[in-house]
Order: sequence, then structure tokens, then C-alpha cells
Amino acid sequence: MANVELIEVDDAATLCRTAADLVIDVLDGLPEATVMPATGSTPMGTYEELAARAARGPFDASRLRVVQLDEYVGVDELDRRSLIGWLRRSFLRPLDVPDEQVVRLRGDGTDLALACRRYDEAVAEVGGLDLAILGLGPNGHLGFNEPPSDASSPTRVVELSPASIASNATYWGSPDAVPRRAMTAGMTVIGAARRTILVVSGSHKHDVLHRALEGEVTPEVPASFLQRQGGVVVIADRAAWR
Ligand code: PGA
Repeated sequence: MANVELIEVDDAATLCRTAADLVIDVLDGLPEATVMPATGSTPMGTYEELAARAARGPFDASRLRVVQLDEYVGVDELDRRSLIGWLRRSFLRPLDVPDEQVVRLRGDGTDLALACRRYDEAVAEVGGLDLAILGLGPNGHLGFNEPPSDASSPTRVVELSPASIASNATYWGSPDAVPRRAMTAGMTVIGAARRTILVVSGSHKHDVLHRALEGEVTPEVPASFLQRQGGVVVIADRAAWR
């Protein structure tokens, strides 16, 4: 864990405030930074806190460039369960980031391999990620880089693992309704972020968090590659870490 800074906080509410402080700190002086904000339940409170700070000023996120982390295959962008829909509701709209400033990962077209290539090109054109705000999957995934994914895994179409289908079932009503395929930013994109904030909350993440930070660096736990990356801060509440 030598390369990773760990901040342990009391609870989920403190986690949101601490993460928002750190995001604002990292973005200080970089109003046009490129940021990848994960969806998922854990970062939502952080985004609410950021929106509240932006409303009060002087924090202003409206000039950020935003890079989408992942998307389901075959789900219309206007479907509220699409991840771009979730990103709009939770991050883009509350923080006044126009859609034109988003690098999309589109899962609704016919040529998905081309969409992945275009995405990688667009991320390269904007100079890569200044900041990734990520959650930790119950199986150690980052985005939808399901185990096994190594550090050289490119942006691609993936089959969702049973663990991901189970954890996303709440958003879809039942496991059967969850799309079987998704697209994810590659580990190549995520791993090149200059700063990364991983937010982890709850006792159900305890074992996987310890495997990610203290276990062997292995494709079986994609988040374990954070140990080698540099610039990574993990903010975990007591239930997740103790
Ligand atoms: P969560 O999801 O924040 O909803 O726990 C994290 C993930 O599965 O990547």
C-alpha cells in the first residue's frame, strides 16, 4: 500500500465532505481540468456536497471536461437507467457542466469497437485524466473492468460478472433485467489518471478493500493495480476499513 494514501473517516457523511474537500483541493487552479466521475451509490453524496459548495461559491465546476467511465450496451441514453443519464442527474446538471464538455462512451450504437476507439482517441486528445473519482466494485472492479482485468486492459465491451449483475439489480428491479454487456474505460485510461480518489463505504466492502490495498497486485482484483499507480487517495469509512 506504499503508494496509496488512506484517509479513514467515521462514517458515510464524513466521507462525502472529506472527498468533496479533496476534489476541490485537487481542482484548485485547474478550472478546465479533465475529471472522470464514477456513478454508483458511493460517490453520490460527494457530488451533492460539491453541488452545494458550487452553489455557495467560489467553487465552480462548470468548465470542467468530464469523461464518462462506463455504460451499458444497448440502453438508450434517454433511459434513466443509462449511466450517462445517471451522470447527467448526479454530476453534470447539479454542477452546470454542459453536455458538450463530456467525452462519451456510447453503448447505443452498432459499432461498439469503433465507439471504444473514438473514446480512447478523445481521452488522449484532451490529455488524459487530471482526476478520477471512483467507487470499488464488490468484486474489486473499477468501472466495469471485471476480474480478471490487468493494467493493460483497453477500453472495451465486457460481459458483466454475476457480482456486478447482483449489485446493479437494485437499479433495474431484478437481476434478470440488468443488461449483460457493458462498455468500460480501460484500465489503461483509469490507471493513467494523474490523481485518483477512491471512495469506499460500508462493511460489505471491507474484505475487497483490504484485498485491493494490501493483497497481491493481481488481475483477479483489478483495483489492486491502484497500489502501483501513484497519486491515489482512498477515503474509506470505518465500516469499510476496520
Ligand atoms: P457502489 O458501486 O458505489 O454502488 O458500491 C461501486 C462499483 O460497483 O463500482
